Amino acid sequence: MKFNVQRSTFRTPMISQPFRPHFLGSDLHASESDVESILLSQEQIQNRVAEMGAQISRDYEGREPVFVSVLVGAVMFTADLLRQVTIPCSLDFMAISSYGKESRSSGIVRVMKDLDESVESKHVIIVEDIIDTGLTLNYLLDNIRNRGVASVKVAALLDKPSRRMTQVNVDYIGFEVPDEFVIGYGLDFAQRYRNFPYVGVLRPEVYGGK
Ligand code: IMP
Repeated sequence: MKFNVQRSTFRTPMISQPFRPHFLGSDLHASESDVESILLSQEQIQNRVAEMGAQISRDYEGREPVFVSVLVGAVMFTADLLRQVTIPCSLDFMAISSYGKESRSSGIVRVMKDLDESVESKHVIIVEDIIDTGLTLNYLLDNIRNRGVASVKVAALLDKPSRRMTQVNVDYIGFEVPDEFVIGYGLDFAQRYRNFPYVGVLRPEVYGGK
């Protein structure tokens, strides 16, 4: 079996300067006071996701990839990314156990919902919200490879490389982010904040962090 692990050539923006716009703390969202700073604005996310969709469309020209979106965190990213993909493709979902109310990975991964369709002989692109320790992705890659796929690649909106506990290859990365707990645009803490249209840093007091 041959896997295409060629790394994509486009550059990943690194985000190190969170900003705090004047409207933060207004009545835009009920719990915005829990947000320390905004890391990625709606506009930054949309521009980058458009670039990623265009890149994937070029790389997969002549093939029909299956996007495997990892519920729930990757939902917003998946919806926006797929609308920027211009080649034939399909979409399926997997749900795996997450942190619950913890803010850090336990490394224990359980499949809560499996794919609806077989991906045997298909070109799979796993769509993830964030790669942190890499433990979840490592598990997912093994799981998908064991289904006899033609190839498997990974598209992640965010990457926190400083937290890696296992070596994993991420082919399409939206943004590299610092070691902060982030929420919004699908990302949660204890199921909250997914509806925020931007990615923000959660105040450590909220999750009992540093
Ligand atoms: P990993 O197994 O440590 O790489 O964690 C992957 C999963 O943990 C992601 O898909 C997220 O659901 C969650 N996660 C990791 N870091 C964060 C964060 O900063 N905010 C919200 N969720 C996170």
